[in-house]
Amino acid sequence: MSVLSDPWTTSGMKDNNAQHEAPVRDFLTSIVNDPPAHARFMNMLSMLEHMGSRKIVVSQTLRQETLSEDTLKHLAEEARHAYFFKRQAARMAGHALEGYTEDNTMCRVPALMYFGRLDAGLSKEVTGNNPADSENQAYPWVSMIIELRACWLYHIYHEVMEASPVKLSLKSLLAEEDMHLAEMFDMVGENTDLLKRLSAYETDLFGKLWTQLESAYLPQEQKAQVA
Ligand SMILES: [Fe+2]
Ligand SMILES: [Fe+2]
Repeated sequence: MSVLSDPWTTSGMKDNNAQHEAPVRDFLTSIVNDPPAHARFMNMLSMLEHMGSRKIVVSQTLRQETLSEDTLKHLAEEARHAYFFKRQAARMAGHALEGYTEDNTMCRVPALMYFGRLDAGLSKEVTGNNPADSENQAYPWVSMIIELRACWLYHIYHEVMEASPVKLSLKSLLAEEDMHLAEMFDMVGENTDLLKRLSAYETDLFGKLWTQLESAYLPQEQKAQVA
């Protein structure tokens, strides 16, 4: 793969997110050692995966003749990721976690806002003044930007969990996200200006969500000091 065809460099994601890498790794390292908080964090990931799969459903109306086998596979895989994180969250919590509530979902509202703003902002940039079939037009772009973030975050998360007592592997999930990323990059990767703009927009929203997560979560040591 040449440098030019690398989605990380082309989108500007790699450089723009270098600043986030160490703090994200530190946060994840704290959280994987705190099972109740880790369960709530995983349930938030489940919610975001569920929203991603729902977004794909909405983008594919029945009157279109464009619903491909690849898109159905993508949809099925995102739904399975939501299930995977929900199941692992329950395992971590020691009991079932029903739905996505304030109690069982870390930063539920900021996570909803992150996704809502991302979807609205990207769709507006992509479709501009041409709202016809806008969901369908926006699909590869919204997916592309979400896949960049999913791959970026899950690579770090996988490394952190492997090195922790949790020992949960994200390998097969990551392989699917990497595949989705490659597929979306094939569809839209040539428009590098737009790709850069959309990725920068997402990075800003991600930074805001992460700040909220950090302030919502007190590491165990600090909780012990407060108690
Ligand atoms: Fe996913
Ligand atoms: Fe994906």
